[in-house]
Amino acid sequence: MLTDAGLEVLEWQGDGPMTQPELIERAKQVNALLSLGADKLDKHFFNQCSHLDIIGQFAVGYDNIDIEAASLVGIPISNTPDVLSEATADVAFGLMIAVSRKMFFNHKTIIRGEWKKFEPLKNLGFQLSGKTLGIFGMGRIGLVMAKRCKGAFDMRIIYHNRSRNHEAEQLFGAKYVSFDELIRESDVLSVHSVLSDETRGLFNREVFSQMKPSSIFINTSRGGVHNEADLIEALNQGSIWGAGLDVTNPEPMKPDNPLLDMPNVAVLPHIGSATVEARNGMARIAAGNIISFYQRREVPNCINPQVLESGKS
Ligand code: DGY
Repeated sequence: MLTDAGLEVLEWQGDGPMTQPELIERAKQVNALLSLGADKLDKHFFNQCSHLDIIGQFAVGYDNIDIEAASLVGIPISNTPDVLSEATADVAFGLMIAVSRKMFFNHKTIIRGEWKKFEPLKNLGFQLSGKTLGIFGMGRIGLVMAKRCKGAFDMRIIYHNRSRNHEAEQLFGAKYVSFDELIRESDVLSVHSVLSDETRGLFNREVFSQMKPSSIFINTSRGGVHNEADLIEALNQGSIWGAGLDVTNPEPMKPDNPLLDMPNVAVLPHIGSATVEARNGMARIAAGNIISFYQRREVPNCINPQVLESGKS
């Protein structure tokens, strides 16, 4: 799409993300940047690369980007919403089932040669039907998770959000509750919020201690939203029953992380949007955002549209 639109593309071919000095060095040679979540686009980056016309982030999340710093130097930032909602909600839904039945752990017992006989009282999980799903962050992905859980298990849906989500309320009978009610009443608490100053480390020891001892914590948004040491402690002490994570802090998670050995835990390596459909959609939108800027001075998925109105010199 980019070359068809007449743009010359300089592609990073290295294995893994660029270091920030490598990124800055290359960004200085180009007019626009198609960035990934691992790229650190902070104040220093924008001071060094204030010449950029536009940044097309290949992700819906943009917590790696200092939007205020970008806006100060007049650079529009765009992201890729919607196309990955189904894929990411599928991972949250899958983790919920996997944790409730200790699937990852039971799979490992076969590999270890520990499947010897039928044991009626061993490795019991619990049913999800009729349980209460709490959604923290009822946006596009949270809405699909609510749909999956309502349809598959007739779960009662409660949610906490910055604002009411009338669609979720009408379609799935979702009930808006305070944060305190959310953490106290959820049997499964699924995080779908952004990572911001408000949400960083929000799910900590104090929060886990108020959740039901039988509850499952699911996070497919950003690892920074939960405190990993507190989560490990909560699981060890039985403040909560289980956890399913597609995101960790830091990423990648180290192979000796104690969470990986816990029976009631399932961890995935941030694969929420990893379907052919979602990744193709993200690529099309990220490229389209950049092309649209050059062709029409419009950016369909702009996070800081005020910079387009004020215009860069
Ligand atoms: C997103 O789009 O934010 C996903 O987490 C992939 O990075």
